[in-house]
Amino acid sequence: MDVGSQQRGQWTSKIGFIFAAAGSAIGLGNIWRFPYITGQNGGAAFVFVYLMCILVIGLPYLYAELALGRYVHKNPVGAIRAIRPGSAWVLIGGLGVVTGLGILSYYAVIAGWTVGYIFKMAIPNQITFGEFVANPYLVVSLFAFFILITILVVYGGVQNGIERWSKILMPLLFVLLLGLIVYANFLPGSGKGLAFYLKPDFSKITGKVVLAALGQAFFSLSLGMGLMITYGSYLSKEDNLISSGFYVALADTAIAIMAGLIIFPALFAMNQNPAAGPGLVFQVLPAIFLHMPGGVIVGMIFFLLLSIAALTSTISLLEVPTAYLVDEKRVARKVAVWIVGGLTFLIGLPSALSQGAVSWLSKPIVGGMEFLSLMDFVWGNISLTVGAFFLSIFVGWVWGAKHAATELQQGNPAFARWAPFWSFLIRFVTPVFIFIILLNLFKFFG
Ligand code: PFF
Repeated sequence: MDVGSQQRGQWTSKIGFIFAAAGSAIGLGNIWRFPYITGQNGGAAFVFVYLMCILVIGLPYLYAELALGRYVHKNPVGAIRAIRPGSAWVLIGGLGVVTGLGILSYYAVIAGWTVGYIFKMAIPNQITFGEFVANPYLVVSLFAFFILITILVVYGGVQNGIERWSKILMPLLFVLLLGLIVYANFLPGSGKGLAFYLKPDFSKITGKVVLAALGQAFFSLSLGMGLMITYGSYLSKEDNLISSGFYVALADTAIAIMAGLIIFPALFAMNQNPAAGPGLVFQVLPAIFLHMPGGVIVGMIFFLLLSIAALTSTISLLEVPTAYLVDEKRVARKVAVWIVGGLTFLIGLPSALSQGAVSWLSKPIVGGMEFLSLMDFVWGNISLTVGAFFLSIFVGWVWGAKHAATELQQGNPAFARWAPFWSFLIRFVTPVFIFIILLNLFKFFG
């Protein structure tokens, strides 16, 4: 089926949607971002708060986006416009589109590093991670390459592009991670890492930790910018949103937890600093591959699979602004993809150059963050959290939790029993909780 400018796509099967949505959710967020944020926020206590955030906020909120998306069959802007035409709510959909661009701009930079690392693993006489990311030609061409690949896949339309890839490669990643967990936990000294990761010291939970955990929950599940509205819009009425959403959240959380089970034992075995920041995974993992029998091959396969996991996520990030241009501005899909991709490249350049290539971009700007970390904080944490705040109010109060629950019941009649509880979560718990956390943020900045 061709997804032209007029015609919208649809997933071929329930499993196709699960793989595509899981493909969006599972990515650098699980394997690059989750370990580095966990390391910066003190370990196990953060992991505990993160899991609570997934269960109490993330999963119920995921259902809200899916319900809205399937109900109106539109991108976030179109979805809101369909429910409340001519209202200012449409700005929230717009925020989602902009956030997609913002996240993609630096996400594709990191994804470019992972591609570079496939080859770097094979070359002896390694340059260090610091030297690698400070080389402007290298990082910019890898970044451009990654955007190009993303464009070419999204070009193919919903099912040809996105579905086919996710189905084969995600299970492979899972198996490789399992093997690496076993290996990392046999390294001498790894026990301390496991304790750091799994034995919570609850006194470490602060407002900053909760904000980081909540932001990570949204980021990892691809929530807060209407991606799941967009993906849900390609679902049909027979699909079971409840079970599909649950599997997506489960797979996503499992992969993140697994990544931590590799990184922290390995990191402590090598006496490295868990709070090293965005470079963490790129410094720790190659070091263990280097000492492993057959490590070059394992390392290459690992970074290849990670690049592909990142690709299924960049595809989804590109899809939101693209669907907006296609549905709302009547731009042909093939043109829209190039517009969005080109724009992303320009916006992403400073991030690409902020790891040593250009010195003023690499210096701390606010809160000790250089340009890329700042982009990650602004778009990957704050913007998603603010987006989820308004969207939960929109679904819970404006469209109405009743309508949303009716939509969720289609394809899963048994949900009727849970509907009141879900409505309570989406109307009260989610927005109030986010509001308190955000207030804390402003206090945090004085
Ligand atoms: N969830 C993706 C990850 O964890 O890598 C990142 C992401 C994709 C965030 C799509 C938001 C989004 F809409």
